[in-house]
Amino acid sequence: MRLDYIKTGQINEKDISKEFERLLPYVEFLSHVANSPSYSSPESSLTLPSDKKNLKRIQEMVDKKVSDNLKYIIVIGIGGSNLGAKAVYDALYGHFDLLQPDRRAKIIFVDTVNPEYIHHLKKFIDENIKSPDEVLINAISKSGGTIEMNVNLESIMEILREKFPTILSRLVVTTDKGSKLWHAAREQNIDILTVPEKVGGRFSVLSAVGLFPLLASGVAIDELLEGACETYEKCLSDDINKNYAAASAILHYLHHKERGMVNNTLFVFHPELESLGKWYRQLIAESLGKEKDLEGNTINTGITPSVSVGSDLHSMAQLYLDGPRDKMTTFLSTKKPKNEQHSPQKTIFSGLVPEVEGSSMGTVHNAMLDGTKKAFSKKNLPFIEITLDDIGPRSLGAFLQFKMIETMYLGKLFGINTFDQPGIWLYKDEAKKILRGEQE
Ligand code: PA5
Repeated sequence: MRLDYIKTGQINEKDISKEFERLLPYVEFLSHVANSPSYSSPESSLTLPSDKKNLKRIQEMVDKKVSDNLKYIIVIGIGGSNLGAKAVYDALYGHFDLLQPDRRAKIIFVDTVNPEYIHHLKKFIDENIKSPDEVLINAISKSGGTIEMNVNLESIMEILREKFPTILSRLVVTTDKGSKLWHAAREQNIDILTVPEKVGGRFSVLSAVGLFPLLASGVAIDELLEGACETYEKCLSDDINKNYAAASAILHYLHHKERGMVNNTLFVFHPELESLGKWYRQLIAESLGKEKDLEGNTINTGITPSVSVGSDLHSMAQLYLDGPRDKMTTFLSTKKPKNEQHSPQKTIFSGLVPEVEGSSMGTVHNAMLDGTKKAFSKKNLPFIEITLDDIGPRSLGAFLQFKMIETMYLGKLFGINTFDQPGIWLYKDEAKKILRGEQE
């Protein structure tokens, strides 16, 4: 993975170094956490990639639950409990699932409350699943009490129980040890994977939350974890010229503070990375969107993240180039397609777009990206460019870990609690009150 910002980031090296000085004690602290197996701080997600015990438990569960007969994994969870797995799955398989009907096992993600979707899913289960070993259900909730997960799980299990009386053996629950869900699952001898208590939902992709469904669906999670580990040398370095997580965080922070760039667009040039963008959106939105700073002052701060895909050049680019100058953009791409394609020399409509005749699609793709970067430069808009080696597990692991570390640095620079989410709890409590019929 490569990060380019020196010429296009529009912040001078002196200012970056000054902010980095401020971050240095935290950089040191994060290095310490990454090397400690204790899971005692909210930054403990850094311990996950090298936690062999965690990996062993996940592998054992996959060995127990996955056979050649497995066709579908139904992942029921929301927010931090599904976005990470979905990001990786969609990048590698999900985006192409319709075009690869025979590839298994496919993951079906169920997140928000959507009766229409559940109606079709139940019908699908009824018509397509012929034996219990063709399906695996993974119910994921760190807290164990999330409304959406619960109502979806019960509804899906209802039809499965009608079809297969032994279906509980095909259910794996992923939750915090000691949660209500953990106790309930234990009482019924349902298999459980746990999430380290201090690792928050949006930082949990490399725990059982993300790794179990990914491994069950055939993702090489060992490579994903290796990719994550490989970022440490750079992202935890005390040399700002190497530490691109800190450099990227400082750039975003200074543009926010000094130029009012309160929006952050991750522009992914490969549609299969859209879910990765959505995972990142949660990371930034929930970690930095805070009412109070660490001293308790009201600051109502945050960066509003959005994700754009290549086709947005035909919908959003006008706004990005000529609209309010309040956005920091990161372009994310890989220059090397896995399966290169060509526009033929002999075209049906010769001369229609002569520039592309006989070109490889990779070349056309890169021209779109480079053209967009040129346009941004001509408009004097700042941007960062991230180039992945490829779209494979190792590169994705590196990206995930880089962004989680970058977010920790950003939280430190903003002086807020990166790891809480009081706003989310507020909505959850209010929704439960309404469901209980409580009046204000
Ligand atoms: O990051 C977070 O904390 C949230 O987005 C949660 O992941 C989300 O609300 C789901 O919560 P839970 O995993 O407890 O069901």
